[in-house]
Amino acid sequence: MLKTSNTQPPTDTVRVSVIGAGRMGRHHARIYSSLADCDLIAIVDSDESRRADVAAEYQCRAFASVREMLEADIHPKAASIAAPTVHHRAIAAELFDAGVDTLIEKPLAPTVADCHAIIQHAQRCDRILQVGHSERFNPVVRALAQHCLEPHFIEVQRVSPMTFRSIDIGVVLDMMIHDIDIVSHLVGSPIKSVAAVGVSVLSSFEDIANARLVFTNGCVANLTASRLATKTERKMRLFSTDMYVSADYHKKAGVVIRRTANQEQLDRLKTKIHMGEVAELADLDYTELVNYEPLTIEDREPLQVEIEAFISAVRHRTAPPVTGTDGLRAVDIAEKITESIAEHAWQSVP
Ligand SMILES: NC(=O)c1ccc[n+]([C@@H]2O[C@H](COP(=O)([O-])OP(=O)(O)OC[C@H]3O[C@@H](n4cnc5c(N)ncnc54)[C@H](O)[C@@H]3O)[C@@H](O)[C@H]2O)c1
Repeated sequence: MLKTSNTQPPTDTVRVSVIGAGRMGRHHARIYSSLADCDLIAIVDSDESRRADVAAEYQCRAFASVREMLEADIHPKAASIAAPTVHHRAIAAELFDAGVDTLIEKPLAPTVADCHAIIQHAQRCDRILQVGHSERFNPVVRALAQHCLEPHFIEVQRVSPMTFRSIDIGVVLDMMIHDIDIVSHLVGSPIKSVAAVGVSVLSSFEDIANARLVFTNGCVANLTASRLATKTERKMRLFSTDMYVSADYHKKAGVVIRRTANQEQLDRLKTKIHMGEVAELADLDYTELVNYEPLTIEDREPLQVEIEAFISAVRHRTAPPVTGTDGLRAVDIAEKITESIAEHAWQSVP
């Protein structure tokens, strides 16, 4: 396959493997095999036909388990774990013990306890651990990160039709976890309280959920996730004292509306409103008080940007952009949300 990396020709390549050859693992394999500074040497999957398929497509070795790969004397320097979340901890332990830096798909693990165990194991083995919160690398989120946001309120809608994938976990760990990570990252303050509601319709876990998160700095986030919708929508609205942001991750578009009026103009305006002189304001052009700026979006595949960042951390021994602690924080908040959903069990009015 043609290598299409935008990086400089490397002096040496990073030998990588992918654990899990399902929907996400195939994307990881495709991207690694396209990068000039990586050499995809092995794919591991307990399912024979899946691993054979991916190995044939990307011309690498195939193994049924990490142990089988290591016993065959195949030692990658880095690996992605894209197996089901319940297996992340056990697979990561084998890789860290073998000295392999690891990118683990989101969510880091199904429980906070497992997340702690994974982080501690990586530290003991002095390995790089990155968590695959790929939406952090969504071009819209990257464009937002260029602005000094200081959000006071954030609203996110993430809905899509049922795909019957990842139904071993609820919609909070499956979909809302993306927004939990992005919102926590943007707010940068710990959680103070959580109130959530959810219903299980098709799976044994919640399929629709809404959570109101209050952060200790006063910011409030209202997150809705559904895997039972008839359309796909991923929208964020955010406001602070000085700006309003509307972003659409799906359509890859957004606008920042910033207050441009100076303090004197605003004080004059507030005095008029206070004095009830609102009739005079009818002639005022509101658009002169604000500035509309479309988000500048660099349209690159989020997973590719994520994997390039991981390989860079591996090469330079630097902290990855999404750390184990970030992954833990997201799972911790997700756990609080599902606990709140359980506490708010709905009762019909007699
Ligand atoms: N970043 C994202 O946007 C995103 C999207 C979907 C899923 N995910 C995450 O990616 C991971 C995989 O999800 P998926 O949708 O690709 O699942 P999938 O079911 O399509 O694939 C998982 C693969 O892992 C294999 N497997 C199971 N146990 C294994 C083991 N012990 N060792 C090796 N292989 C094993 C299965 O045979 C299967 O081929 C999950 O953690 C999921 O939460 C992330």
